Amino acid sequence: MPDVHFIADDGTETVLDVYPGNNLMMAAVFDGIRQIEGICGGCLSCATCHVYVDEAWLGRLPPPSSDELRMLDEVAAERRPNSRLSCQIEMREDLAGIVVRMPDRQS
Ligand code: FES
Repeated sequence: MPDVHFIADDGTETVLDVYPGNNLMMAAVFDGIRQIEGICGGCLSCATCHVYVDEAWLGRLPPPSSDELRMLDEVAAERRPNSRLSCQIEMREDLAGIVVRMPDRQS
């Protein structure tokens, strides 16, 4: 199963195996990663699943939808060029090893 590396703002790393088809927010929330809140459950209405996708991986993701871009305007922490909402990142086999960093706050 492909793995995802979640790195907290203090440098703590959690590696999760995520089934292809599941999104990264759900994987993080179900595993108790507290830096991802995912309050809306992935319906693009909360922006509490903000992550910074490692630059090496960013180009392998589909571009954000207009709805995701709109919600990225609402993130609590600094928005960066590699900001994405983790509920919109669907795991795939070829994303094995992807690295995402979590901001210091989600709300
Ligand atoms: S979980 Fe609410 S926007 Fe991602």
